[in-house]
Amino acid sequence: MKTVLITGATGAIGRALVLNLARRRIRVRAVARSIQSRDFPAGVSYLNADLSEPEILAQVLDGVDALFVHPRAVGAMAPELVALAAEHGVQRLVALSALDVEEDLALQPSRFIGDRNREVEEAVSNSGLSWVCIRAPSYTSYILDLFAAQVRVGDVVRGPCATFAECPVHERDLVDVLGLALLDGEIKGRRVEVTGPESLTHQEVVDVIGAVIARPLRFEEVPSGVIASQLVAGGLPTKFAAALVHRWERDRDRRPTATEEVLQLTGHPARGFNEWVAAHAASFALSN
Ligand SMILES: NC(=O)c1ccc[n+]([C@@H]2O[C@H](COP(=O)([O-])OP(=O)(O)OC[C@H]3O[C@@H](n4cnc5c(N)ncnc54)[C@H](OP(=O)(O)O)[C@@H]3O)[C@@H](O)[C@H]2O)c1
Repeated sequence: MKTVLITGATGAIGRALVLNLARRRIRVRAVARSIQSRDFPAGVSYLNADLSEPEILAQVLDGVDALFVHPRAVGAMAPELVALAAEHGVQRLVALSALDVEEDLALQPSRFIGDRNREVEEAVSNSGLSWVCIRAPSYTSYILDLFAAQVRVGDVVRGPCATFAECPVHERDLVDVLGLALLDGEIKGRRVEVTGPESLTHQEVVDVIGAVIARPLRFEEVPSGVIASQLVAGGLPTKFAAALVHRWERDRDRRPTATEEVLQLTGHPARGFNEWVAAHAASFALSN
């Protein structure tokens, strides 16, 4: 039986990945800084460790077949972690990354909250081990952050660039592909772009939410700079907001194309955004 080590194990993707593998009776070791015993089923072993000092992982790498490299958890220490993994006989590396990884670094919003997608891709692809990088667009849950609070208090949703479109990926699809990549040696040496099944503009996102929760929602465009100021007031770094505004404005008339990777790799179609909204309808319900 394979043993898989998951970094970033308490995060949005890492936690679901640990549970997905554990359900399939794969031996899982989970690493983050704040795991509690109640977080995972009994069979999952875990280590609380700060990966800014990756050598701490030496104590749990023996016997590991595949390592999930999480770019927020590993950050700039990716080369050290990958070298350590090779020393300990790990055979396979799977990195989470983002669709914008090849953009100018100053234009990648997530770098300003610590993500090192580029460095992680470079480290795993230069490792000499079997590797896969899984590039994702925005997760569907990002829509919660962007619009849900407004939907809870009324039918008008104010946001940036009505025509800006993405193909948001359902987190379960991302986790299905990551799980496969960790267990199936056939997918190797690839940078795989895993998207949702359709491109949706901000306007269309709000239309889908309205249709699923049966409310007459209306999207109202406001200047991107106003939204950026709100993000900064909410605690996000100014450079993060600036990079996001740049993308919204630059791509406001561009329709990205969805990929077929979920279907081709897992055999099931990518889950639609409407399915995700239906499962999270309570998060959009009027609060009084
Ligand atoms: N959100 C999106 O829409 C989106 C879209 C495309 C790509 N991505 C990429 O996906 C990644 C984010 O994934 P996510 O949403 O799963 O992140 P997340 O929910 O923020 O999880 C981050 C994980 O990393 C752990 N961690 C952070 N610093 C650590 C450290 N120094 N040592 C050990 N563990 C540490 C955290 O646990 P502790 O705090 O307990 O240590 C947590 O388990 C980023 O690379 C991002 O660019 C995100």
